[in-house]
Amino acid sequence: MIDVIIKTRTIIGKGELQNIPDFLADNGYKKYGFIVDQAFRSNEDVGRLITELREKGLHAVTYYYDLPFEPDYESLDNIKYLFKDRNTNWSLVDVIVAVGGGSVIDFAKGIATLINNHDAATTYKGFPKNLNPSIPIVAVPTTAGTASEVTFNAVFTDSKLGRKLGINTHNNFPVLAILDSNMTRNCPYAIALSSGLDALVHGFESFACKKSNYYTRLFAKQGIINLINNIEHALKDVENDQAREKMQFGAYLAGISLYNAGSGPAGALSYPLGVVCKVPHGIAGGFILPYLLEFNVKNGYYGYFEIADELAIQGENEREKCEKLVAYLFDLYDRLDVWALAKKYDIKTNNSALSEYIDLLQGAFDQNPVNFTPSDGKTILNKIF
Ligand SMILES: [Fe+2]
Repeated sequence: MIDVIIKTRTIIGKGELQNIPDFLADNGYKKYGFIVDQAFRSNEDVGRLITELREKGLHAVTYYYDLPFEPDYESLDNIKYLFKDRNTNWSLVDVIVAVGGGSVIDFAKGIATLINNHDAATTYKGFPKNLNPSIPIVAVPTTAGTASEVTFNAVFTDSKLGRKLGINTHNNFPVLAILDSNMTRNCPYAIALSSGLDALVHGFESFACKKSNYYTRLFAKQGIINLINNIEHALKDVENDQAREKMQFGAYLAGISLYNAGSGPAGALSYPLGVVCKVPHGIAGGFILPYLLEFNVKNGYYGYFEIADELAIQGENEREKCEKLVAYLFDLYDRLDVWALAKKYDIKTNNSALSEYIDLLQGAFDQNPVNFTPSDGKTILNKIF
């Protein structure tokens, strides 16, 4: 049985951000909320969009997202009252336009849920049921990584528990995603790299995980190819709009595969690294990815040969193709200077909070195509740090 959900209308193209006013008008939205990464406060394209919407008389509430790290439930509870009346709980907006990376779009999803669902954000953590419908979201990603613009997941940290969970509901699917290469142009190298590696994790883990199917693997495979073939050009040549567009589309495809099929140990291990050691999600999973692939191939999983074939990596048999693909990935990491970033984090792998969190992850590890335990996770972390 194959069961795949894709719910988000998607427009891809340079300059397509300016489609938003027509989209809002065509759908009868009158009061829009804006959640914009503060780095885009003086961005020309965003400025033009806001001016045009104001000229059309569409009422705006704008929040410039400036949270120091990935969003937590408390921030959702504090900020939601910019978008709803504190006394009556009535919504002040009928659509939210989110412009930013994964954290910003996730944050918008959380706010869109809390506008129409009136308890504290932690009430809805995990996979809540019986929610009132969310306010619709238009998502404009400014990174090529999480694919939050097309997924139903939204990740939040519970700062009291020290755990990363989320508010994951199909209400979160944005109604429109706009992939506009103008919007990824000014992404700093470290963030673009972290985002790109996040997307590679999504692609590889969802390709190999136990719940993948023929359909999801098509998305994962094409996503990985787009990412691998374009990440260097996109990161090193800011003028290369086409490479950025192809990379972002790769991340988008990998995201579709991820939420339909599942993930694996690299994504799971990024959570303790994020909460305990403050390593951003994308780079944390990215560090683990090539070591995880090496582990899987050593333990007899050769499904990656299909990806090696697409990259024209030659080999006598499936196993050899996979080994060469792993070496290819390590080489790519060297060219992108990934390991220099790992040195920035002073991570003690014997940290007890880290170790205890990893011990809770067996359920997520079980999605891996070969047996993987918390102790295997710790061995990989020892190799990296
Ligand atoms: Fe991720």
